[in-house]
Amino acid sequence: MDHFLYHDGTLHAEQVALSDIAAAVGTPFYCYSTATLERHFRVFDEALGELAHTICFAVKANSNVAVIATLARLGAGADIVSEGELRRALAAGVPPQKIVFSGVGKTREEMAFALTTGIGQFNVESAEELEALSCVAVETGVSAPIALRVNPDVDAKTHAKIATGKSENKFGVPMARAAETYAMAAALPGIEVVGIDVHIGSQLTELAPFEAAFNRVADLTRSLRAAGHRIERLDLGGGLGIPYTRSNDAPPLPFDYGAMIERTVGDLDAHIVIEPGRLIAGNAGVLVSSVIYHKQGEGRSFLILDAAMNDLVRPAMYDAWHDIVPVIEPEPGIETLPVDIVGPVCETGDTFAKGREMPPLRPGELVAFRSAGAYGAVMASEYNTRPLIPEVIVNGNRFEVIRARPTYAEMIGRDRIPDWLAQEPAEPQPAT
Ligand code: LLP
Repeated sequence: MDHFLYHDGTLHAEQVALSDIAAAVGTPFYCYSTATLERHFRVFDEALGELAHTICFAVKANSNVAVIATLARLGAGADIVSEGELRRALAAGVPPQKIVFSGVGKTREEMAFALTTGIGQFNVESAEELEALSCVAVETGVSAPIALRVNPDVDAKTHAKIATGKSENKFGVPMARAAETYAMAAALPGIEVVGIDVHIGSQLTELAPFEAAFNRVADLTRSLRAAGHRIERLDLGGGLGIPYTRSNDAPPLPFDYGAMIERTVGDLDAHIVIEPGRLIAGNAGVLVSSVIYHKQGEGRSFLILDAAMNDLVRPAMYDAWHDIVPVIEPEPGIETLPVDIVGPVCETGDTFAKGREMPPLRPGELVAFRSAGAYGAVMASEYNTRPLIPEVIVNGNRFEVIRARPTYAEMIGRDRIPDWLAQEPAEPQPAT
């Protein structure tokens, strides 16, 4: 459930009309709901019940410091994949010991910075990374708590671009090499084995792949413990899917996911870490945009918005569906017509939806993309020299801009003219 509902004919974020925010900040913009973020965090927390656990919000899904801080106040940790995300998590007040560092390509500089801040866990993805981390840990004099990310070779049954748990994916250490890699870790200076990590993909709509993976992790836990390793933590990754449309998909409920965790690894007396991103932030955000034109094409019509693929890339990148609804509630029974909903960017890929049934909308009218709180703003770019759009957060009847729209001067002022172009242009040479 989220807190984006129609009240008195206008779509609201909690108690604030999205049209009021649009009037104050201009369109397009992202808008997040505090109550929804909090609700989703608590649902997960309750789903894990009596199990000792930490919910490390996957910052990559939404890395605005205000969003991370909202969750940190409830006790969330953070799953980060870069020094930049680590700095954001720390700025938001996440305690370092509740931060886990994932990713296949951590640089030595990032490792050193993370070690000095005292993060709780490195999720190491290869023997090569383990050796590098050992060197950096010795250099910095801080030992590195590690979990090895294992690749359980299960099919997550999600979009190929966001599946990570098959042996052909770049992620993790194959199960068959886990024992030898743990033995290597135990022998390396500066490395302290604390657990096992697994993450098989994102937007999973079935529990079975998780269950298969977690069963393999449970078996591995037993055999590694028998070999003398200290396996105190099981980091089970993120990936639980969300409904992107109110009609079609019905992903598993967090409660059932929690029960499955209990069933698969609950008897191992380990501290459970999970890294949800989308489930916490996805349906806690909308993208609000205005109609620029309703263009009549040859046999189809186009709703051209002021938001584009650079603001929300998911439809162009993963053919993802987002519900798109008018901010002013349509009259009941109003006739809808199929339209292609597109942005102004000069690519045919800048298409949000094809043949989407929409009520008539005129220029200047507002629409909201639902489920845009995860992998929305964070994946935006300035393609076509379009300024990054602002982010706003609502809390009850209040709202605040948590990232302002940059000015053109700020955006273009980052470029530098090199010396050889800064001088006066040479006189054109006469043709000989
Ligand atoms: N942990 C790790 C190691 C991850 O790689 C990810 C996501 C997560 C946790 C969080 O997964 P979630 O709970 O959000 O599914 N840009 C894509 C999604 C990429 C996911 C990458 N990894 C999209 O827009 O669908």
